[in-house]
Amino acid sequence: MSSSDKLSQAKGMFWATVLSNQQIRTCYYRLIIELEADAVPLFQSVIPGQFVMLDLTQTALPAQEKIPDSLKDTVKRQLILRRPFSFSDVSVGQGENGPVVKLEIMYCVLGPSTVRMTSLSKGDKINVLGPLGNGFNILPDKELSILIAGGMGAPPLLHMASVLKKLSTKVLVFAGARSCDDLPFTIRIGNITGLVLEEFWQLGVDCQIATDDGSAGFKGYVTACAEKWLSQNTWNPEKTAIYACGPEVMLAEAAKLAFKHNVPCQVSMERMMACGIGLCQSCAIEHKTAQPQQTEYKLCCKEGPVFDARDVVFSKEG
Ligand SMILES: Cc1cc2nc3c(=O)[nH]c(=O)nc-3n(C[C@H](O)[C@H](O)[C@H](O)COP(=O)(O)OP(=O)(O)OC[C@H]3O[C@@H](n4cnc5c(N)ncnc54)[C@H](O)[C@@H]3O)c2cc1C
Ligand code: FES
Repeated sequence: MSSSDKLSQAKGMFWATVLSNQQIRTCYYRLIIELEADAVPLFQSVIPGQFVMLDLTQTALPAQEKIPDSLKDTVKRQLILRRPFSFSDVSVGQGENGPVVKLEIMYCVLGPSTVRMTSLSKGDKINVLGPLGNGFNILPDKELSILIAGGMGAPPLLHMASVLKKLSTKVLVFAGARSCDDLPFTIRIGNITGLVLEEFWQLGVDCQIATDDGSAGFKGYVTACAEKWLSQNTWNPEKTAIYACGPEVMLAEAAKLAFKHNVPCQVSMERMMACGIGLCQSCAIEHKTAQPQQTEYKLCCKEGPVFDARDVVFSKEG
């Protein structure tokens, strides 16, 4: 194992200070935290798709009126476990006492931890375990990188888009959600291309929107939108790669699309994670082996969350 491999697998527990926590849509927030200087060597080479486990057990609940009605009962549950979150951006900058790491996390309010996250404000401290997992393996020989994002699968692909853009490959994003309000981004009217997602547009990356109900962009699944583009445009399968993150059923469709067009595809999988570091075995993913019909289980937190789409047995396939 090379020293850079060792560093990419190294992890630590760090205190982070909240810089901002901004609501971007009804259920979506953008949290920016700064990690102490000790974290710099581990986080400066973080790969898109890696994640952290946040300890929110000491974070207070927001005021009653700020808790969605549907979650008023569940948020009373005592929190014991950390929760996994990937990054939409990672940067190293200069702090008052030396270099610091800034992590941007986009999150969706779903339950007791994410409700608590909404109460975080500037100066608050949270404990971070990471960086964890493997991240996307960027294929440098590809001229076109297609990113397929579904719902809250979008944050690591925003990070991925900024990394790919620096490598000067052409990047095309397909971002989908049930409806316009479920897209965790800012929608704007572009000059030439119609609707654009501000966050990708600022990176200079083309983006196509798909919504199941047709409230913005293409009406239908995001994978159908990508399929339409692939069938209507000229592109070279040998020079193209697909990277996808989102609900498992969408990842299964992205895998089928990639297989049909003979394009390599990596998928970032999600599982409930109790430890995030390979100890509890709660995050198994069924994985094909070299033997036909035989499968084995891999740990999403340690051997993933990113897998080659050809190797995954998707649980909601078909
Ligand atoms: C590698 C990884 C990266 C992630 N990155 C992000 C991110 O960038 N932004 C973000 O908002 N969320 C992300 N998540 C999901 C996030 O961890 C959960 O939404 C969070 O744990 C919910 O915690 P909670 O206590 O608020 O709700 P909980 O009560 O724990 O969960 C609320 C509901 O969401 C479901 N759920 C929770 N976690 C998962 C999961 N991992 N897979 C499938 N269903 C789940 C539960 O079954 C439940 O129905 C990520 C998950 C993983 C595994
Ligand atoms: S979350 Fe514990 S082994 Fe993966």
